[in-house]
Amino acid sequence: MAEGGHVPVMLRETLEYLVPAAPDILMVDATQGLAGHSIAFLERYPGLRLIGVDADAEVQAIAKRRLVPYGERVSFSRCYFDEFFKDFRGKEERPGLILFDFGVSMYHFREAKRGFSMQGEEALDMRLDPMTGRPASELVNELDARDLTKILEDYGEEPFAWRIAEAIVRDRKAGPIDSARRLAELIRQAVPSKVRYGRVHPATRSFQALRIAVNDELGRIRRALEDAIECLAPGGIIGAISFHSLEDRIVKFAFRERAIRPSRDRYRREAEAPIPHNEGKRGLFVLTKRPVEPAEDEVAANPASRSAKLRVARAAD
Ligand SMILES: C[S@@+](CC[C@H](N)C(=O)[O-])C[C@H]1O[C@@H](n2cnc3c(N)ncnc32)[C@H](O)[C@@H]1O
Repeated sequence: MAEGGHVPVMLRETLEYLVPAAPDILMVDATQGLAGHSIAFLERYPGLRLIGVDADAEVQAIAKRRLVPYGERVSFSRCYFDEFFKDFRGKEERPGLILFDFGVSMYHFREAKRGFSMQGEEALDMRLDPMTGRPASELVNELDARDLTKILEDYGEEPFAWRIAEAIVRDRKAGPIDSARRLAELIRQAVPSKVRYGRVHPATRSFQALRIAVNDELGRIRRALEDAIECLAPGGIIGAISFHSLEDRIVKFAFRERAIRPSRDRYRREAEAPIPHNEGKRGLFVLTKRPVEPAEDEVAANPASRSAKLRVARAAD
């Protein structure tokens, strides 16, 4: 993909909800990717400073090139976002804006050659940071059918998980499954014939499930949200864009368990409202009662945005 051709998802809505309380605040773009959102915020708020986090060194190298014009307003951290916020809790300066845009980018499907795409003769790796963790090929070639089924069910909500897991275990007897295309093809053959050639490739859910398992995506989201919310400056705003229900559910509950119910007394200010049930956790005002979804024109222009959901909350104190 052309470096300049990247389209950030739900940019309009993100800018509408994530409005800084002061002109010179610090923003953390926790999933900076190719810096589409970062650039939009840096352009709109000339006093804003930004830290861009990404676990993927290749992606971050592209972001760094794109952000050269913003000079010292931008700094970078190459690590997983849960690790970033765990360390950041000890820091004095607190971000006034935090944005998460979960998952992987088009770069991963089109350029990374790490097995994210089902089309390629590429090694089955799927790690964002190939220096840590286990590649997908290890899971596919070493786990037994029960554990594989659990991954496909839990992270892919795959209805044919057991059939696919059994087919993987059978197929690898002929030699390790080491390419994305071979895995995708064997999954196609394992599912019932009526779903083999539909609009969506029948291996899509399995690939998503493996990617989530390899990168511990859901565990990292859960831990990162805990710490990120505690890091926020008073009145700071956190936004999270999810792409499937597993991610969205985590965001929804992280916000809900800290939610401050608005006072019934219309003369009392929100910030004075009681915090009924959040057990010492940072109180949040949830700004999106329901998740915000992309507008029709965005979905038409960028079909990959169709499942996006944005939730936003503002820290109380
Ligand atoms: C959907 S893309 C973000 C796109 C970005 N908002 C833009 O406008 O270019 C998600 C990015 O987050 C990174 N990422 C995903 N999970 C991560 C994690 N747990 N820690 C750090 N980076 C992560 C991926 O490498 C990818 O570059």
